[in-house]
Amino acid sequence: MSRVRRGRFISFEGGEGAGKSTQARRLVERLRAEGLEAISTREPGGSPGGEAIRDLLVNGPPERWSAITETLLMYAARRDHLERVIVPALERGAWVVCDRFFDSTRAYQGAGGGAPGELIAALETAVVGEVRPDLTLILDMPVAAGLARAARRGHGEARFEAKGTDFHERLRAAFLEIARREPDRCLVLQADAEVDALSAQIWTAIDQRLGGARNG
Ligand code: TMP
Repeated sequence: MSRVRRGRFISFEGGEGAGKSTQARRLVERLRAEGLEAISTREPGGSPGGEAIRDLLVNGPPERWSAITETLLMYAARRDHLERVIVPALERGAWVVCDRFFDSTRAYQGAGGGAPGELIAALETAVVGEVRPDLTLILDMPVAAGLARAARRGHGEARFEAKGTDFHERLRAAFLEIARREPDRCLVLQADAEVDALSAQIWTAIDQRLGGARNG
């Protein structure tokens, strides 16, 4: 981004069925109630091109793509999303609330799928650059409970859900490790808390970490 950035960028992360989408939606509603411009978006997807790439990624058999191919597709979608949606929104001062961002690639394709960490790190630098989330909320819950919740939801985009418990345990551990290494950016929250209680914790975190939404 060439100009001074004014908006805030918040990402939600976690395994399957952690309730990220619900919490992201509630947060955007709360920000708007405070009179702020806030957009709700998601990855992979979030722009017409990104959503077209999402179709390739989330449907079909689990072994449809190798971990490296998946990483490249995720980053193609991410670049389009950044150029067309995220950066313009931040530049006009809007808050961007994104359901998943680059930590999902580190966890799913890296820790889960075995894509090389150097490749993922190089793509982060080249494609994302400075436009990193100001705050990343990692919704953590036991793998079995999350997968059961995701299966009940039954949205049909089950390619990653079908990858097996070991895969999901690796990515849960990866999200917790990311939070341990980047405590200033990341906060882990217990996702099996009651929905209203979790929303309240998220609002408190935003107040504490980002200096209060009204000052944003
Ligand atoms: P969602 O179900 O949270 O909308 O995410 C779609 C799937 O895409 C989910 O199974 C996680 C996966 N995913 C990755 O594997 N790598 C990524 O970088 C992103 C953003 C999502």
